[in-house]
Amino acid sequence: MADTLWWQHGVVYQVYPRSFQDSDGDGIGDLEGIRRRLDHLCWLGVDAVWISPIFPSPMADFGYDIADYTGVAPIFGTMEDFDRLLTEAHARGLRVILDFVPNHTSDRHPWFLESRSSRGSAYRDWYIWRDPAPDGGPPNNWLANFGGSGWEFDEATGQYYFHSFLKEQPDLNWRNPAVRRAMYDALRFWLDRGVDGFRVDVIWLLVKDEAFRDNPPNPAWQPHEASINRLLQVYSADRPETLEVVEEMRAVLDGYEERVLIGEIYLPLERLMAYYGRDMKGAHLPFNFQLIFAAWDARRIAAIVAEYEAALPAGGWPNWVLGNHDQKRIASRVGQAGARLAAMLLLTLRGTPTLYYGDELGLENVAIPPDRAQDPWERNEPGLGLGRDPARTPMPWEAGEDAGFTTGRPWLPLNEDRATRNVAALSADPDSLLHLYHRLIALRRQHPALSAGDYVGVEVEGEVLAFERRVGGARLLVALNFGGAPARLALPEDAAGADLLLSTHPGREAAPVPAELQLGPGEGVVLALHPG
Ligand code: NOJ
Repeated sequence: MADTLWWQHGVVYQVYPRSFQDSDGDGIGDLEGIRRRLDHLCWLGVDAVWISPIFPSPMADFGYDIADYTGVAPIFGTMEDFDRLLTEAHARGLRVILDFVPNHTSDRHPWFLESRSSRGSAYRDWYIWRDPAPDGGPPNNWLANFGGSGWEFDEATGQYYFHSFLKEQPDLNWRNPAVRRAMYDALRFWLDRGVDGFRVDVIWLLVKDEAFRDNPPNPAWQPHEASINRLLQVYSADRPETLEVVEEMRAVLDGYEERVLIGEIYLPLERLMAYYGRDMKGAHLPFNFQLIFAAWDARRIAAIVAEYEAALPAGGWPNWVLGNHDQKRIASRVGQAGARLAAMLLLTLRGTPTLYYGDELGLENVAIPPDRAQDPWERNEPGLGLGRDPARTPMPWEAGEDAGFTTGRPWLPLNEDRATRNVAALSADPDSLLHLYHRLIALRRQHPALSAGDYVGVEVEGEVLAFERRVGGARLLVALNFGGAPARLALPEDAAGADLLLSTHPGREAAPVPAELQLGPGEGVVLALHPG
């Protein structure tokens, strides 16, 4: 690992702060709660914690609508709480990554209040204001990601402003150098305090077409899909100028030692790769979400990994993600048995893994009664299953009505199976998914082949996905049986034998492996190959 950086060989853990641990009984998680739970992260063995937005916000989109980039939302605590969390995390060797939301502010941000106050405001051009179309309607056909037009009419000044998300989240004008300077200052504020990097929200949306051309219709759109997909986001996203901004952000981070820039990007592979930047001067890690959308099938996933590996630019470091606060829970997508295999996949592929809080427990989507729905997307476009609340429910820590998360009324209901699916119960069960995560992370740390080695795909029959990870002379073989039937795994001909290091299936002992191994249905294994 000597020649890899912490964000390359390390494991990132995402905390959704509202749902991790409440320390003051208001039913909403906070910074002090995260601090009190650092033991869990250290035991699990992760290297960095990424915390979704903690800044002052009216919470129209639960913190992704920021009203002050250099403060802490009172609901999450104080700047002292943040500093204490950061200091204690660092003392334990844990890095802290913040969520930076540069595409839009809250409509309560002083910049926007000033901007909308008059057409002549010095801040007018900090946002995207346009005259109405000749018929008085919106300036073009661009849509908002959470439903409806992306344009909101402002009666007082007679113009529309653009919002990629809610109307409470006006988009900043990244063509304005003053906006760029202010946002880079905000990055420096947190870097100076010692944060180790940023996950940058919707980084591919930052710059819009200068001519505001209409987006073309999407012929593949189906009525059960989100309305944003009616159009192809050709002119409102992924414009060539965006890369310039990404490279400027990266330059800010490069003024400090070993800080990481992670970009949230939902784009096809080829466009995703562009965000590494020219000469690798863009995002260190453009988030790779392919496993979230992949059919749960060995051939398909093998192809995805191979294509991704092949597409990576020289010097580009890979990364993999199974879930986040915007997506369905992995255990609901692939089932509890599948979740074990998924854990092994995530933690043995080449590249930085990011795991989402609660996935180590196998938390599933929690059904939210309509009267408790919180997510504005669910409220705007109900009934399509778009709501993100089911994957944002509070972390269950122990048995009990509110599972140790809060002494108040939790902001979202907890998982119904919390009496058995909680940290304490799964910690007491050495065969649990939680222990499997712990062992996989330990194995990754122990074997540089896993954290830093090459990826070599292995052709196998049937529903088994297999690959080797190699560094120096060391070779590990990972084999994952996606099928419902047992499968035979032959060792490579050039290996003299192998040792089984870890299986997803309880009861399989670490042991020498002769020439072949029988994998159980849904079983994954990691083997250390002996040189032939
Ligand atoms: C992406 C974030 O992950 C999501 O939660 C948020 O609603 C949008 N960006 C808008 O900031």
